[in-house]
Amino acid sequence: MNEMKTAIYPGSFDPVTLGHLDIIRRASVMFDRLIVAVMHNQNKQPMFSVRERMDFLRRTTEGLPNIEITSFGGLLADYAKQQGACAVVKGLRAVSDFEYEFQMALANRKLNPELDTVFLMTSAEYMYLSSSVVKDIAVHGGSVAGFVPDGIIQDIVRRTGKDG
Ligand code: PNS
Repeated sequence: MNEMKTAIYPGSFDPVTLGHLDIIRRASVMFDRLIVAVMHNQNKQPMFSVRERMDFLRRTTEGLPNIEITSFGGLLADYAKQQGACAVVKGLRAVSDFEYEFQMALANRKLNPELDTVFLMTSAEYMYLSSSVVKDIAVHGGSVAGFVPDGIIQDIVRRTGKDG
C-alpha cells in the first residue's frame, strides 16, 4: 500500500491569485504531495495559455517542496487515479460556491470511489477574490496589486496593455 498521501488542487488558474496561493500553502502542509493541476479548458477563452499559467504557478510556489505543477484535460476523476491521488482540494469562498462544488464532488466520487474532496474555507481577506475579478480589473486599467502575487503583476499588465 502506498503510504504517501497525494492530493490534487485543480483549476483554471487564469491567472493564479493570492486566494489560490493561500489554499496551496494550507493544503501543502496537509498532504505529502500536492499536485496543482491546470485544466485545459475548452469552454472558456483564457487570458493566459496553459504554459503561462503553469509558469506563474511555478514562480510563485518556488519555496514549497512538496508541490508539483501539472496540466490535465479530460476528467478530473481519471487524472486523480492516474496520479495516485486520494483527495481533491477545493477552496470555498461563499455559499454560492457550495452547490456547484457539492455536485462536482459527488460526481467525482461516483466516477472514482477512492477519491474524496476536501474543502478549505477561504481566508477572510480573499472572500471576494477570483481570477475573473482580477482580469476585469486589469482590462479596465485598475491595479491588481494585492490580488495576485507581486511576481506576476507585470505579466498581467503586459497582456492587457494597461499599466494599472
Ligand atoms: O478554476 P475553475 O475554473 O473553477 O476549475 C474548474 C475545474 C477545473 C476544477 C473543473 O472544471 C474540473 O474539475 N474539470 C475537469 C472535468 C471534469 O472532471 N468534469 C466533471 C466534474 S463533475
